[in-house]
Parts: sequence; C-alpha cells; structure tokens
Amino acid sequence: MKEKKIISVIHECTIDELSADERQLIQSAIDSTVNSYAPYSGFSVGAAVRLANGEVFVGCNQENVAFGVCICGERTAIFAAGARHPQVPITDIAIAARNSDGLTSTPITPCGSCRQAMIETEMRSHCRLNILLYGQSTIYKIEGIANLMPLSFDKF
Ligand code: THU
Repeated sequence: MKEKKIISVIHECTIDELSADERQLIQSAIDSTVNSYAPYSGFSVGAAVRLANGEVFVGCNQENVAFGVCICGERTAIFAAGARHPQVPITDIAIAARNSDGLTSTPITPCGSCRQAMIETEMRSHCRLNILLYGQSTIYKIEGIANLMPLSFDKF
C-alpha cells in the first residue's frame, strides 16, 4: 500500500510581520470578541472578514440554551458579509478568542463546520482566502483553506 503525505503550509508570524490591513482586520476580530454571547462556554470568539471592495464585516459566537442552535464567530461574520454583498468576494478572515484569562496565547483554530463554510467562500469567489489566526504569543497566516482542510468534498 502506498502512503500519501499531505502538506499544510502555515506561516507563524508576529504582528509586525503583517500588513497594516491585516493588523487592522485582526484588531476588528479582537474587538468583536467583546460582543460575543457565550454564557455557557465562557469562550468568546471574534471574527472579521474583508471583502474585495474593502468593506469589513465582523461576527462573534452566539450561544443558546439549546446547544445545537449555537453558531460560531467565523460563520457569523461570513454570513453577515454574504447577506449584504452576495456578489463580492471575501478575501481575508481574521479570528481571535478570549476566555476568562483574556485573549488566548495560542491561535484559535476554526472548527470543521467553519472550515467547510470557508471552503464554500472560496468556491464562490474562485480566490484563496487569507486566513489569520490570532494568538497573543503567535499568529498563524494561512494562504488558502486547503491548508486547514485538505481532501474536502467539492464534486457532485
Ligand atoms: N466556537 C467558535 O465560535 N468558533 C470555532 O471555530 C470553534 C468554537 C465557539 C462555539 C462555542 O460558542 C464556543 O466557541 C465554545 O466551543
């Protein structure tokens, strides 16, 4: 049997290594954590997306006593942008999170459902997403969702 290796490329960087636009998007994600409604988990996730027209939309996780109703910060931001500008590509997404100790030290990595939503975002726009995962000690910059979700379902 043949072994196949799949390589993901992730750039570990500091805030100074990012562009002004990227830093600003991360700040919007951080700011958005404050508006999270997370009384059950105590884990507040903020996300910000930039569109090709320069507009920024933010989102944060919204929890519910019926847990299945909860929605993540990333999808809240992506869907808000889609609801306002369905034809405009989303080019970048930044994600940050805080718990009772403050902003996380390591980057938050999105759940499978949010990765799937990012795949759909790329399929709609035909361009790769610039994904910025914020942590206080390090930031991951990832060019394209395939690096986070290889072998995704894309044919039917
Ligand atoms: N959460 C997100 O908002 N994004 C993710 O990618 C993973 C988890 C939220 C869901 C829930 O409100 C809280 O974080 C704890 O799981």
